Amino acid sequence: THSKEPPIASTPGPALPPLPYRPRRLRQSAALRDSVAETRLHPEDLIAPFFVIPGQGREEPVHALPGIARYSVDLLLPQLERSLKLGVRSVMLFGVLPPSEKDPLAQSAADPGGPVPTALRAARKAFGNDLVLYADVCLCTHTDHGHCGLLKETPRGVVIDNDASLVQLARMALTQAEAGVDCVAPSDMMDGRVGYLRRALDEAGHTGVGILSYAVKYASAFYGPFREAAGSAPSFGDRSTYQMDPRNAREALREARLDEEEGADLLMVKPALAYLDILARLRPTTQLPLVAYNVSGEYAMLKAAAAAGVLEEGRAVRETLTAIKRAGADLIITYHALEALERGWL
Ligand code: PBG
Repeated sequence: THSKEPPIASTPGPALPPLPYRPRRLRQSAALRDSVAETRLHPEDLIAPFFVIPGQGREEPVHALPGIARYSVDLLLPQLERSLKLGVRSVMLFGVLPPSEKDPLAQSAADPGGPVPTALRAARKAFGNDLVLYADVCLCTHTDHGHCGLLKETPRGVVIDNDASLVQLARMALTQAEAGVDCVAPSDMMDGRVGYLRRALDEAGHTGVGILSYAVKYASAFYGPFREAAGSAPSFGDRSTYQMDPRNAREALREARLDEEEGADLLMVKPALAYLDILARLRPTTQLPLVAYNVSGEYAMLKAAAAAGVLEEGRAVRETLTAIKRAGADLIITYHALEALERGWL
């Protein structure tokens, strides 16, 4: 038989010692909890990523990223406006090209008529300086082999030609600078690229264009959905000769220091969730803003779990983004940004 009374211990236990410290006091109401919360998310903390394709009137959903689509520039503009209205005033643009526009030298990377430069000009024209425009700088969506750099034959086989790649990366960055980018965001992981891009930008008079360096970018399984979205999976081998080994943490500090010395304005850690320790360790070592990339696989993982009904999506998204900020990120690049704000999750 069940009584209406809540079950309580009926036999008195040992006498409690005085308990002056009771952390639960500050958890007694939502108002109290909110007032002592150490981490707060603002729309301005978020950078919304967008995939841009050539053409007109095109919107292509990305199956691996439910809720995310690729847009031609005309349809991208309303998305940027949506972002701005929600208070997400920073966006990151990725260009996606058809195979016919790719070649071994990634020549389309420096095409001022390409989707990203076109989008940058259109966004600048439509929104002036209200929107902070970042653009990815990498050759993987422009090379026919899908690697982030150019190839060369050597006695040990085909390798990524670090120094030759820098030249094309710099041409890509200059094309974006001329189109009005605020910060270029090199994600290629070639050595010396931040310094090289800085010099190239400065020599061309773009001293005001910043560099958000993907300083600490790991060779991660969590980029899978992005590669479907961008059509940028390498056709042979993997990216482990240029992206970092997930087993290394000290190396992350070294990569970040080198990029800072080379002139980076912001530093990124990528992915975010399996690398919160890296963010936390990096935070006290630099005065630069830290950016974390909550990558495609992390987004897809949550979406899949929510679709399977095994967790509450809104709470999981808020907890995830809060944890990334708590670990030390000033800014978070996340595919959740717009939906999370629209649905009141943050
Ligand atoms: C390009 C690039 C990648 C991502 C951002 N820039 C893919 C990769 O390195 O293979 C991944 C972003 C994501 O997974 O959301 N090099």
